Amino acid sequence: MRNDETGPPQAVSRRRLLTALGSLGLLGVLLSAVRGTVRFLTPPVSRARSPIVVAGPPDAFPDGGLTPLPQKPVLIGRDEGGLFALSAICTHLGCTVTPGSEGLTCPCHGSRFSTDGANLSGPAPRPLPHLALTFNDDGLVEVDLSQAVAPHSRLKV
Ligand code: FES
Repeated sequence: MRNDETGPPQAVSRRRLLTALGSLGLLGVLLSAVRGTVRFLTPPVSRARSPIVVAGPPDAFPDGGLTPLPQKPVLIGRDEGGLFALSAICTHLGCTVTPGSEGLTCPCHGSRFSTDGANLSGPAPRPLPHLALTFNDDGLVEVDLSQAVAPHSRLKV
């Protein structure tokens, strides 16, 4: 008698528990699918860094030389016209060129560039781009990596 009285309520309770767990699982799957769809359809937030690089005080760049920046593949040059910035990314396949006694050399396939970025030999199809230079409010030289300028552009110092 006791088993008959307590049997059915336990079975119903077990059924309800399993139904509730199944419903929770299904709800979790649906929420996960909705979340994935929303993330897929929402454009990602841009995490792009600023294209502006602080190169340093103008005195840090000696006349007639090319100074590599430690933080970016950029060379700062100085001649009688002023300061200029060259991208140090080879126009062939993107290796970083290095300054030497005879201009700039790409270590990957041997392209050579003059100290003003002109391509002299090797597979590089174009000169190295010149980049915009400005002074910031503290009097430091800044390079805008996103802005190419004419090869004769100089920042007067
Ligand atoms: S990447 Fe510079 S020569 Fe090929």
